[in-house]
Amino acid sequence: MGDNIRVMIPEEEVDQKIAELGRRISEDYAGSSVHLICVLKGSIFFTCELAKRITIPVTLDFMSCSSYGSGTVSSGVVKIVKDLDEPIEGRHVIVIEDIIDSGRTLSNLLQILSARKPASLALCTLLDKPDRRVIPVEVDYTGFEIPDEFVVGYGLDYDQKYRNLPYVGVIEN
Ligand code: IMP
Ligand code: MG
Repeated sequence: MGDNIRVMIPEEEVDQKIAELGRRISEDYAGSSVHLICVLKGSIFFTCELAKRITIPVTLDFMSCSSYGSGTVSSGVVKIVKDLDEPIEGRHVIVIEDIIDSGRTLSNLLQILSARKPASLALCTLLDKPDRRVIPVEVDYTGFEIPDEFVVGYGLDYDQKYRNLPYVGVIEN
């Protein structure tokens, strides 16, 4: 370890926000059910907490993608590393993301999923960095809009570390 982490969003605020998102989703889909798609690995913590706060029937599936690109710039050409276990045709799907940055990976992923003919397709993200957007994406549920800083915690990693922090923080050396 050895890195200094400054708290950007404390645990209590994240918890409150997730409860609020869970309430909104439960109201918006009242009388129906939702199929949550967790995009591994970053969204795993958010997905679990959110699912617990939704009061209508929930099913879960997982997928893992990698985007081809050079260095830190994602090309947006998505390669599915692990596909969903079940078809999504006719289901009310919500894609759960940890963070939306350039939007490249996500817009590609949404195209792939909408081709599978879900009844509806929505997007829920814990964090959004709107200043970084290159490809516009329509976000239905946003936890927090944050400035253009590299954040860790609550599923987000730096070199695979810090995913397990219960808050969102910034590495300061
Ligand atoms: P993009 O929207 O295609 O540029 O890529 C989004 C992905 O980049 C996210 O799913 C994260 O894996 C990663 N990412 C973007 N910003 C951050 C950050 O601040 N901390 C950790 N990972 C990030
Ligand atoms: Mg990552």
